[in-house]
Amino acid sequence: MAGSRISGFHRLGMAERLEVVAGFAGLTAAQVAVLAETGALPAELADRLVENAIGVMPVPIGIASNLKVDGVDRLVPMATEESSVVAAVCNAARLVYDAGGFVTSASGPLMIAQIQLTGVSDPQHSRLEILERREEIAGICDGCDPVLVRHGGGFRELEVRVLETRGGPMVITHIVVDTRDAMGANAVNTMAERLAPSIEGWCGGKVYLRILSNLADRRLVRARAVWPADALGGAEVVDGIVAASHFAEADPYRAATHNKGVMNGISACVLATGNDTRAIEAGAHAYAARSGQYRSLSRFERTAEGDLAGSLELPLAVGLVGGATKVHPTARVCVAILGVTTAVEMARVFCAVGLAQTFAALRALSTVGIQKGHMALHAQNLAMMAGAVGEEVDRVADAMVATGEVRVDVAERVLGELRGG
Ligand code: MEV
Repeated sequence: MAGSRISGFHRLGMAERLEVVAGFAGLTAAQVAVLAETGALPAELADRLVENAIGVMPVPIGIASNLKVDGVDRLVPMATEESSVVAAVCNAARLVYDAGGFVTSASGPLMIAQIQLTGVSDPQHSRLEILERREEIAGICDGCDPVLVRHGGGFRELEVRVLETRGGPMVITHIVVDTRDAMGANAVNTMAERLAPSIEGWCGGKVYLRILSNLADRRLVRARAVWPADALGGAEVVDGIVAASHFAEADPYRAATHNKGVMNGISACVLATGNDTRAIEAGAHAYAARSGQYRSLSRFERTAEGDLAGSLELPLAVGLVGGATKVHPTARVCVAILGVTTAVEMARVFCAVGLAQTFAALRALSTVGIQKGHMALHAQNLAMMAGAVGEEVDRVADAMVATGEVRVDVAERVLGELRGG
């Protein structure tokens, strides 16, 4: 077998690279054909988006319907491989639609970049030296991106902390930048890099890292909604969801799963619009741990009237310009479906989806359990794994759900019987 040291691999065309990989892994012609089919993402574009591209990974896009966000009806594209996720949002949104849907707000599109100064003997003194140069720093930052400034963005605030670390004190400068409709990584990273030599010049010492923080806690979005108890099936259902919320607030083991439910919704929207799912996940989980204990991002309470009040707050650094969002044809169409005109408006819609998603999960978990809903869809996947095609898929899946035995060996047996084997 050939090795993984392939000289000049990145200089090959996509088809040639695929040939090399096929040789290495012993792929069949059919397997090569799967990767060669790039669908809505032209091979040339895929090749520009990442290095050493050999194919694409298509993921289904489902539409979350029934969403009313700040009085506006929205259809929201969600890209996810997980069954039940889209259906859950549709149901949750339907149950709150007549009661007004979701109300959202945002703190504004402020990104933070960090500059790490090490090796100064007088860190407190250095901190003040940097703070005194606020105007100069604002000028350096805004000078990096006149287009952003023209669009109303640019430098906003300066924060400097002395951080005690195992390697001695460090002086950590935060520049806070309004990045408008951009996610802002490129803008703030450029500013941090441009500023670093000045900081070394003023304070001495050595700057190492110059990079944004994914704990984007100046870029928060919030969503709330009140589900009428009657629409949920009564007070007991409300109590169950509230108890689930209390559990997740108190226990990191549960909070991680609870927040996975939130992110099922949000990450699917983020991916559909070509935004950076890892940045959003990192920010959400860091925010969940901001008190020193990892906690749930969404909360559920019983209102004075006995209804269910849900709320969600998290950082959501998503953009409409820059990155894959503007160049990926599918992402562009998804943004068009959303009908948003600013990145903040988009983040607010995503936050509503996150709240709907976590509500749906808790409602199922605190009542019938999630397996009932999951199993019907899971059964279809198993039927396809067993080789079912066309109408066979539903027939095999229905037979398994009816008997309560949803397993691949059962799917194979049922399929065999169907085919008269
Ligand atoms: C499954 O993808 C997500 C849930 O586990 C979320 C939760 O437990 O709240 C159902």
